[in-house]
Amino acid sequence: MGVIKILTIKVPLKDANKVKTILIRNENLDNSYKTLKEGLFVYFPVKTLFKTKYELINKELETLEHLPHSLKDALKNILTKDELEKVKTAYDCIGDIAILEIDRELRKKEKEIANALLNIRRDIKTVVRKEGSHEGTFRVQKMKYLAGENRKETIHKENNIRLKLDIEKVYFSPRLSLERMRIAELVNTSKSRESKNKKSEKKEDILVMFSGCAPYCCVIAKNAAEKINSIIGIEINPEGHKYGIENIKLNKLDNGCNINLINGDVKKEIPKLAKMGKRFDRILMPLPKHAEDFLPEALAVSKKGTIIHFYDFLHEEKFNDALEKIKKVCDKAKKKCRILKIVKCGQHSPRTFRICVDFEVM
Ligand SMILES: C[S@@+](CC[C@H](N)C(=O)[O-])C[C@H]1O[C@@H](n2cnc3c(N)ncnc32)[C@H](O)[C@@H]1O
Repeated sequence: MGVIKILTIKVPLKDANKVKTILIRNENLDNSYKTLKEGLFVYFPVKTLFKTKYELINKELETLEHLPHSLKDALKNILTKDELEKVKTAYDCIGDIAILEIDRELRKKEKEIANALLNIRRDIKTVVRKEGSHEGTFRVQKMKYLAGENRKETIHKENNIRLKLDIEKVYFSPRLSLERMRIAELVNTSKSRESKNKKSEKKEDILVMFSGCAPYCCVIAKNAAEKINSIIGIEINPEGHKYGIENIKLNKLDNGCNINLINGDVKKEIPKLAKMGKRFDRILMPLPKHAEDFLPEALAVSKKGTIIHFYDFLHEEKFNDALEKIKKVCDKAKKKCRILKIVKCGQHSPRTFRICVDFEVM
């Protein structure tokens, strides 16, 4: 660490937090130097001159140890140039676990790559590598431990909720957080479909098929609480169900939110609900592979005005296939439907997307 004279902004202590936020937002805070507090003032290192009511002066500040900013940067002295080109810099984080994809040719250096990531991301505690793809009914994926704390359980934060899960025992994708919030916002803004009187906006009964560790249930319950009458989630994987129950408690949604999670097969559980006369205002079907196989069950617990969110993986030129699948099942069940929207909610492979078709049962 050295000392160097650089451009700073001199801010009274009382304004320090406000100015720091603005500097960060404008990408003008120079992170290579240590902020200095002297008497009643704070001196923030800045990158460029700008118009401000505060004094801009040169000041001696301590330099900070340079941390590499990117994974490639951190691996410069560890991998050869050819190897560096093969490093995939995009990775998912679930809680404090980073999930890398590493090409076969680089596997002999996988521990070094994982340790380099731990060095640049202080918030990451464990690094694993994907082994294979999502498999079987539970859609789970094998993960190989590489570095950091040797565990696969973590707590992930998104959309004002916390989700506890084991990344190997349960399906969970952090990339769907926007989609989960989209649905919660639809619940929040939906007006009663039966009543024109806005004051008597109806609360919704919601069914989440394939509920996993309950991310949709928790995000909707937390962010649209006042618009919910009840939520039922159905999940076949006992581990997913176990974490789902835990997550309802973790987010304090077990008092008065009327969420029920069922550990079972949608094919067997829905006929029981239908027999009891249960009908839902909104049904989510987040199983993009073969969701159409479960559409008859969704229709069996639908009523006039039910909104169904149907997920699929499709090539961008074949989005209409999803509409045909929906129409075919509706025709067979003698139900009419109205397509409301097709939403792209993630990329699966080049030009192939995870889509959601929102449609209304008429
Ligand atoms: C793609 S994952 C989605 C999980 C969760 N909704 C999420 O977004 O994280 C699909 C889930 O459906 C469950 N599943 C598959 N077939 C099922 C069935 N017949 N009945 C109930 N759940 C099922 C799997 O175990 C898996 O957890």
